Order: sequence, then structure tokens, then C-alpha cells
Amino acid sequence: MADVSIRVSRNGPYLVSGGARITDADGTPYETKETVALCRCGASTTKPFCDGTHSRIGFSAAETAVPASAE
Ligand code: FES
Repeated sequence: MADVSIRVSRNGPYLVSGGARITDADGTPYETKETVALCRCGASTTKPFCDGTHSRIGFSAAETAVPASAE
């Protein structure tokens, strides 16, 4: 598998890039593209994928990563 990365978008979905294989609960793979957006707000009608509903409902998530301390 390529170098997969997940970016938490501001007040929006998880952006998964690198061609990750995403499956349903039975292990059946979804047909995906190189980069996919996974719903983080819980309101998408196309879960597990984002359908843009987060913008309409005003989803807000302020968390940010805390840099690891250098010792
Ligand atoms: S994050 Fe976009 S619809 Fe949920």
C-alpha cells in the first residue's frame, strides 16, 4: 500500500489519501479514489463518506494536535 495519510480538516471530514482500502462491516471494499473524505460529524447520508452535510449543520470541532515534546 502506498503512503497513507489522514488529515483532520477544519470543521469537516477526515481526508484519507494514499489509496487506503476501506471496507464495510462485512469486509467488502468500497470503490474509492486516491483521496476520500470520511464523515466526522455523523450527519452524512452516505456514511462512511462525507456528503457535505457538515457545512449545512454547522459542525464545529476545535481540537488540534498537540506537538510532541522534544526531549
Ligand atoms: S463530515 Fe461531512 S458530512 Fe459529516
